[in-house]
Amino acid sequence: MSASSPVVEFTDVAKRFGDAPPVLSGITLCAQSNEFISLIGPSGCGKSTLLRLIAGLSPVSGGKLLVGGRPPAQEASDLAFVFQEPTLLPWLTVRRNIEVMLRLRHTPADRRRALADEALSLVRLTSLATHYPRQLSGGQKMRVSIARALTLEPKLLLLDEPFGALDEMTRDHLNEELLAIRERQRWTAFFVTHSVAEAVFLSTRIAVLAANPGHIVHEVPVDLPYPRTPETRLSPAYQTLVAKVSLLLRSVEVSTPHAA
Ligand SMILES: Nc1ncnc2c1ncn2[C@@H]1O[C@H](COP(=O)(O)OP(=O)(O)O)[C@@H](O)[C@H]1O
Ligand SMILES: [Mg+2]
Repeated sequence: MSASSPVVEFTDVAKRFGDAPPVLSGITLCAQSNEFISLIGPSGCGKSTLLRLIAGLSPVSGGKLLVGGRPPAQEASDLAFVFQEPTLLPWLTVRRNIEVMLRLRHTPADRRRALADEALSLVRLTSLATHYPRQLSGGQKMRVSIARALTLEPKLLLLDEPFGALDEMTRDHLNEELLAIRERQRWTAFFVTHSVAEAVFLSTRIAVLAANPGHIVHEVPVDLPYPRTPETRLSPAYQTLVAKVSLLLRSVEVSTPHAA
């Protein structure tokens, strides 16, 4: 991806499946390098679909979408996807799970080991490298899933409610860890969440979507300095933003009663 062009550029993008009414309409959104953009909105408004468009897993139906200056491509090597379910292979150790994408890409063994070591260290799982998924907590499994994505050295990281199934304290910890990793690796993130607090804590910008068809109704810049720490959550600026985005989200949910 070239450094000058936006990492992701939606211009009036629409998405429909078959003859059904459009799922997304009029999506215009531009992500610059190193931005962290959260997508929040009622369920069914098209957040996951929007990520799948970026990943080239599904084609746009109208408008223009460029990823790294090009049409999205499924085989893009500098993009990684993290899902809500950690999707680990139960018969492989943590290290093997982390290496699995690299094996698929036929990365040479020594390089694979180096990338896995780095990813293990980034998510603080080095001591659990020989454990199996059944021996891990939910939060640890998600850290393995994130490590697996990081071995791909992505320029663009797509995360679809990765912490949605975790308790609040684990989620807060993982939010802090994700930002610590971001201090050491430069990637651009699109992050889907239902948690306003999480969106504000992580993001440089929040896009609030409404449903039927999914469209962006508000873009809220988050002008809180990085690094963000647990103290950030106590600051009046953070709390004001959480209150503001919560109100915006509530008005969207009230005005879209048909959302699933
Ligand atoms: N492959 C598909 N075929 C048909 N409809 C789909 C498909 N994927 C998603 N949809 C529909 O698109 C809408 C948005 O779904 P989704 O992107 O999963 O929403 P969200 O992630 O915001 O909850 C839903 O109505 C869903 O049923
Ligand atoms: Mg979804």
